[in-house]
Amino acid sequence: MSGRVPVSAGIGLRSPHVARVLAERPAVPWFEVHSENYFAEGGQALRALERIRADYPVSLHGVGLSLGSTDALDLRHLARLKSLASRIDPMLVSEHLCWSAVGGRHYNDLLPLPYTDEALEHVCSRVDAVQDYLSRQILVENVSTYYVFPERAMSECDFIAAVAARTGCSILLDVNNIHVNAANHGDDALAFLDAIVPGTVGEIHLAGFDRDGERLIDTHGAPVAPEVWSLYQAALQRLGPVATLIEWDTDIPSFAVLQGEAAHAQRLLEAESRVAA
Ligand SMILES: [Fe+2]
Repeated sequence: MSGRVPVSAGIGLRSPHVARVLAERPAVPWFEVHSENYFAEGGQALRALERIRADYPVSLHGVGLSLGSTDALDLRHLARLKSLASRIDPMLVSEHLCWSAVGGRHYNDLLPLPYTDEALEHVCSRVDAVQDYLSRQILVENVSTYYVFPERAMSECDFIAAVAARTGCSILLDVNNIHVNAANHGDDALAFLDAIVPGTVGEIHLAGFDRDGERLIDTHGAPVAPEVWSLYQAALQRLGPVATLIEWDTDIPSFAVLQGEAAHAQRLLEAESRVAA
């Protein structure tokens, strides 16, 4: 099933909903989980994921590889990811275009990269190494940032497009993150979409943000905002229908709320499919 990516709206599976999914097998086209939550060899969580995987396509989404760091790639982390991927046979494996550890010190955050030629070269060599190690294509995701390096030589969208072009990786386009960065840094969200080559995006993320005064904070703790739904429609018009995920990580609501969000994304996906047909 790893080769078959449903072009439909899946749900990020978090621990409060696992028991219900196992018991009721709700009609959800696919689930995504955070890879690191299943790195232990065995245990209840991994057994539950294997049972869910028997009935649903599953995507593995990493939050801790620190892809952009200048530390050496964490081979223990990669070995665990490879072992998990061989157990789960995921439809997709993704990571964030950021760093979260340096000098062996780990920060519980997805930290921004300077969009320079040097950083581009560095990140591309790391993506090449990860794809070689895993013997598969990965997806890299644009993150929300709260700082822009003055050294930046290119825009975020040109940076991620170049990573995909040079390494053959796919892009996980987080439409909420595009909106949050556009609002916080004055970037043009539609220009971001224009810089992305159709066919290079393998997945879209949708999530909610919160406000702190003028600033938007990417909390993944709210419904998808109306302006993000609009940007999602623009993304579908530009890219065509793409597998889409509802992410919700804090103040996790009932499963029915997540299904409602996914159903809305599914309607927009189907509308775009009809236009494309
Ligand atoms: Fe995301």
